[in-house]
Amino acid sequence: MSNWKLKSAVVPVTGAASGIGLALCKLLRAEGATPAMIDVNRDRLLFAASEVYGSAEEAARHAYAVDVCNSHAIDACFEEILHTHGPTTHAVAGAGIVGPSNVLTDTDEQWHRVIDVNLNGAMYFCRAAARQMVAAKRGGAIVTIASIAGLKAKENRASYATSKAALINLTRALALDLGGFGIRVNALAPGVIDTPIQNSNRTTLDVVAETIPLKRIGVSDEIANGVLFLLSTYASYVTGETLVIDGGLTAKYR
Ligand code: NAI
Repeated sequence: MSNWKLKSAVVPVTGAASGIGLALCKLLRAEGATPAMIDVNRDRLLFAASEVYGSAEEAARHAYAVDVCNSHAIDACFEEILHTHGPTTHAVAGAGIVGPSNVLTDTDEQWHRVIDVNLNGAMYFCRAAARQMVAAKRGGAIVTIASIAGLKAKENRASYATSKAALINLTRALALDLGGFGIRVNALAPGVIDTPIQNSNRTTLDVVAETIPLKRIGVSDEIANGVLFLLSTYASYVTGETLVIDGGLTAKYR
């Protein structure tokens, strides 16, 4: 076990049923923390929670099937976490979706769906986490999972790139509003990571890998490690920052 000092942390994580969120929950559990696993996909969530917690009973005690777009459900979820596990000490807004999006062809619904999950959902989640942390008066740390698409735009990803850019600035705003309560808030911007959200075949990913300075796409654990750092006291003077983990992709001129 490494020494991230997260042993008694209670950590709600959204997007916990898959990819980066699931890898993070496994790491948090290995550190002795209690991840509260939140995801909209109930079946996949219960399966993921049993991977993290072992028995079906323990999985059910730590799994919360909630849509982040429903702010009332998110608030109720935090009340339930408080009641069952104690006050939230750290939180990670990881839930996200991507979809083809072109400014000429997007319908209102397509546009709103991505903004709703990636931006509004993250706001509802961070707000609920922050309220609980402020009430507990013990400080804390929040991490949002943004994207390098929030730093640079990309063709046919207008809604996604916009949602992630706004999420990065929301993270800065949260850092300012919460700093006086000893709560740090940072964003992590992954590059191309091998998870189901990529929805690309191996050949396509191999071609993408060649464009990355490290010549490979990343894996979820490499993002989860960065999140652990930002949550931990090793990052005690880091707030309002965006940590890019992308194998060098955004370091390139072309
Ligand atoms: P993933 O698709 O494996 O996991 C995303 C999870 O979010 C899924 O389990 C899904 O059910 C959940 N989710 C979606 N909508 C939700 C909602 N309304 N309420 C609650 N849960 C919801 O994808 P991955 O890669 O693990 O994504 C995690 C985060 O990382 C996302 O925010 C994504 O935008 C971001 N990211 C991923 C990159 C990648 O290359 N994989 C690159 C940059 C950012």
